[in-house]
Amino acid sequence: MSSEHEIENLSHESRSFAPSAEFSKSAIAQPNIYQDSKANRLEFWADRARELDWSKPFTQTLDWSNAPFAKWFADGELNVSYNCLDRHVEAGFGKRVALFFEGEPGDTKVYTYLDLLIEVKKAANVLLKLGVTAGDRVAIYMPMIPEAIIAMQAVVRIGAVHSVVFGGFSADSLASRIQDAEAKVVITADGGFRKGKASALKPAVDEAIADGKCPSVTNVLVVKRTGQDVAWNSSLDLWWDEEMHVVENEHVAQGFNAEHPLFILYTSGTTGKPKGILHTTGGYLTQAAFTHKNVFDLHAAQDIYWCTADVGWITGHSYVAYGPLANGATQVIYEGTPDSPDWGRWWDIVQKYHVSILYTAPTAIRSFMKIGSSVTKHYDLSSIRVLGSVGESINPEAWMWYREVIGSSKAPIVDTWWQTETGAIMVSPLPGITHTKPGSAQVAIPGIEISVVNDEGQEIQAGHGGYLTITEPWPSMLRGIWGDPERFKETYWSRFEGKYFAGDGAKLDEDGDLWLLGRVDDVMNVSGHRLSTTEIESALVSHPFVAEAAVVGAKDETTGQAVVAFVILRRSQLDHIGSEADTSKILREHVAKEIGAIAKPRTIFVVAELPKTRSGKIMRRLLRDVAEDRPIGDVTTLADTSVMDTITGRLNDGASD
Ligand code: WT7
Repeated sequence: MSSEHEIENLSHESRSFAPSAEFSKSAIAQPNIYQDSKANRLEFWADRARELDWSKPFTQTLDWSNAPFAKWFADGELNVSYNCLDRHVEAGFGKRVALFFEGEPGDTKVYTYLDLLIEVKKAANVLLKLGVTAGDRVAIYMPMIPEAIIAMQAVVRIGAVHSVVFGGFSADSLASRIQDAEAKVVITADGGFRKGKASALKPAVDEAIADGKCPSVTNVLVVKRTGQDVAWNSSLDLWWDEEMHVVENEHVAQGFNAEHPLFILYTSGTTGKPKGILHTTGGYLTQAAFTHKNVFDLHAAQDIYWCTADVGWITGHSYVAYGPLANGATQVIYEGTPDSPDWGRWWDIVQKYHVSILYTAPTAIRSFMKIGSSVTKHYDLSSIRVLGSVGESINPEAWMWYREVIGSSKAPIVDTWWQTETGAIMVSPLPGITHTKPGSAQVAIPGIEISVVNDEGQEIQAGHGGYLTITEPWPSMLRGIWGDPERFKETYWSRFEGKYFAGDGAKLDEDGDLWLLGRVDDVMNVSGHRLSTTEIESALVSHPFVAEAAVVGAKDETTGQAVVAFVILRRSQLDHIGSEADTSKILREHVAKEIGAIAKPRTIFVVAELPKTRSGKIMRRLLRDVAEDRPIGDVTTLADTSVMDTITGRLNDGASD
């Protein structure tokens, strides 16, 4: 969590940027939207839902009688894929480009709405042929290629439920997600291109399901992307292309109940086990589409939209696979990393496709800022008219750089706060209306009610800090944790009665604008991705060298936070353990194997003791002081107050080596 002091200074930033009259005039969201949504919140959402195509119209908007389990538009029926594809083609937009795909090696592919619809229909038929039916789960473990979106759309088209697992997660992480959701089919690729190389994916699937570890899996569909060699299990594996070739082009989408499960997406919590966040059909699509259109000011016929998120994260679900398609947008998707072949790649893409709306994360912006405008100045970025940020608070310096260098000092920036659990944007400026302040996510979007509260759950005064809560149910809210309704209530609804607690600290400034302060629980945010301290600690102690481990998120200039681990080694193993550098390397690799490369600690400190309270709880606050190289804070609650001297003394010794 960022220090209170720093935010104190930030919120006294006096800068604010008014929208230009020209932008406001033609903006999608007009100022009356706030009053309209306040006047009748439920009717406001019902009207937004009616902008979708319902095969059976709903008559009730919200059923909150079994709180916190919400039902939105409960008696209505719709098909998400029909709303994202068929209806645009039927409306005469079949020739509009849906996807401009840019592969990392420079290969490209263009899909119109009609092309995409045909591919999705075929993929739906492939899944049906494999025996997938409504309600079944399908795991998707793919690079950022069009087939990932086609697979997602095809799964939901037949009422099945996808669980997309980010391609950076390890075989073990994939296995536990497949097992938890009991996925019937896994859709993957031989590999994808990253940093100029083919990076394999299929071996992780093979390893995940080997030795009968995932008995639910009856088939693995493999997209050929890189052409690299793959091991083949002829009783399970099928080439995507071959299957797509032999099925019918036609598939008529059927409506599903608004509360029919749509997808599960796993995210880290405060315990060792990731939670399967469950989203359902009608409410999710309603809010994803509404926010995509209004927050990014999407003019579908003119804009070229590019969200840089991978489909493995919620941003890639709501603002790549669903929101933009529901709105008939033309979007760019890019397979690779920003530095491949060099740091000009993103800006080359912006110039080439005339990207007008760009949505990315502060960590990327800070990386580009470090490289400097010597790179960006070679590209024409004048097409950009709206800029979005997501994943963590954007520091005012990065915000200003984003505005001036990428947005030519004119594009409004929308800093969007939301979570895997909220399904869609909850707090954000609206371009054309809001006077934006660098570093603030500002206000709840129309139709959303939030409150910043103190420890007792009372609303705090302007100028103070507290906990961010959501006080009224919203359409795209999670409907639960897969297979664990009790954990859902306990995690989100027990801290403050009747309110959803987001896990974030926040401060309201004198104007009522919101400044996010970071997580207040044991969840870290590394490059806008959520990692659990407990999960990484469990991974570390599962290695025979490690007796005890404590993990903290330490401030990092580029990634926001970085994983820093403190480990106590097992005495019995000391004979096998090499130098500290070797140990650190072995343990970092071990975490990569257990969870994925994103979870690798940046730094591992080998220590003799860990600071604990008398009740045995690790005092991470003190370790964070060490990791961030600050004077150690209050140690009076430590069971043994000399521990911190030992740790810092030890580290200083290490530093002088
Ligand atoms: C956590 C949710 C929402 C998609 C990406 C992350 C942090 C997210 C912001 C923002 C400050 C932010 C919060 C939140 N966060 N956006 N604009 N300003 N913090 O999704 O993995 O579910 O993580 O990301 O801490 O709780 P996620």
